Amino acid sequence: MLIQMFDPKTASEREWLALHQFNNACRAEQWPDDLPLPLEWLKLRYTGMAANTYVDKWVAWNDQGESVGTVEFWTETGDTNQHMGWVDLTVLPSYRRQGLATRLLTCAIEAAERRGRRLVIFETDTDIPAGIALAERLGATKGIEAHTNQLVLAELDREMVQVWQARGQERAPGFRLEFLEGPYPEADLENMINLFTLSMNDEPRGDLEIEDERPTPQQLREWEESNVRRKRERWIVWAREVETGILAGYSTVYWSHFEPDTVQQAGTGVRRDYRNRGLGRWLKAAMLDKLLRERPNVKRIRTGNADSNGPMLKINYELGFKPYKAWTEWQISVDKLAESVGHDDRARGSGGVERGPNPTQDPFDCHAERSEASPRGGYVLSCDKGETLHFVQGDSRKYRAVRTY
Ligand SMILES: CC(C)(COP(=O)(O)OP(=O)(O)OC[C@H]1O[C@@H](n2cnc3c(N)ncnc32)[C@H](O)[C@@H]1OP(=O)(O)O)[C@@H](O)C(=O)NCCC(=O)NCCS
Repeated sequence: MLIQMFDPKTASEREWLALHQFNNACRAEQWPDDLPLPLEWLKLRYTGMAANTYVDKWVAWNDQGESVGTVEFWTETGDTNQHMGWVDLTVLPSYRRQGLATRLLTCAIEAAERRGRRLVIFETDTDIPAGIALAERLGATKGIEAHTNQLVLAELDREMVQVWQARGQERAPGFRLEFLEGPYPEADLENMINLFTLSMNDEPRGDLEIEDERPTPQQLREWEESNVRRKRERWIVWAREVETGILAGYSTVYWSHFEPDTVQQAGTGVRRDYRNRGLGRWLKAAMLDKLLRERPNVKRIRTGNADSNGPMLKINYELGFKPYKAWTEWQISVDKLAESVGHDDRARGSGGVERGPNPTQDPFDCHAERSEASPRGGYVLSCDKGETLHFVQGDSRKYRAVRTY
């Protein structure tokens, strides 16, 4: 088994094809009702990311050159939440219970250290007990329980959607709804940032050590650009207070070119000072109405909600959303994770640069030709300088090595 860093910029077509097959096998296990996604979706997922988002990814290849496991470490740059990163780890069912996840996690730990993160958050799917067993064995703690809730549009009470909209206008007479399909107008950017900050920071986070966020104008633009690259359309509906021009609430949906049947309901938020006067219901009903009119082929809407999000669930359940899939989000410190997977202690506490028996050797730059996770932590690589190194620090295939193995 070979574990290699995967660089979307330099990956060969053969690697992409193998990864595509792997990805759809995982999707079939996790989302059995859904169709496979095309290769283009996968490529755009990794090449079309927002400029402030990074993914460090490793792939486990079997002797036939098939991808049988992957680990990803996702981070964002910014002013907040610089202590954490998200891990996404998957091993094909027939390759489980062979220590592969442990080896892959060693790579994620290297990435966390290199990027200066001390906390890892990951989620497990309740339908896949292997993930939950691993989380427990690692000593991770449960941060929050959540569900993907689904509304099948054929079952939607369309009459109710009309009633909610009429009632919304009555309960909140000083507000008007506005729809937006393209990028945020420059004039509303600050207004939108305030709305995000004063609404989404109240979304329940359970015990997860996540800080409040205030997105910057640049981040908003980078997310928008990423959506365009990834062929994701965003629709937003805003509730604007007519007298002040303040954006009091919003609801967002995404529609992917690659999944025309399914709409993803993303954030719905109402500013703290404008809640419980029917804006949330009005926004959701108005967006549903627009979808029914303009996207008649959409069959379902999915959304992720914390099980403890009383107000959102009240609205969603009344609309007919039903629990579809259960998730647990876990957290674990990088130190504890390293201890649990037996990551070599000597490699740690040095900002990701390994201190080996020959620490005085000067680091030098090289390009990796082949890399494999080392049972001692870190990974071993053959580099273009013709040496086998115990590696350490770097991005993609360009490494800085510190000592010979
Ligand atoms: C969810 C949210 C958008 C609702 O906005 P809103 O404008 O207050 O919504 P509405 O007034 O239309 O409806 C909220 C309903 O929840 C009810 N409610 C309020 N707190 C509640 C609680 N703790 N448990 C259950 N119901 C609650 C309200 O009474 C109201 O019901 P009613 O219309 O029958 O009186 C708003 O609470 C919010 O922004 N929360 C933080 C962000 C968030 O969590 N978004 C969802 C992410 S998935």
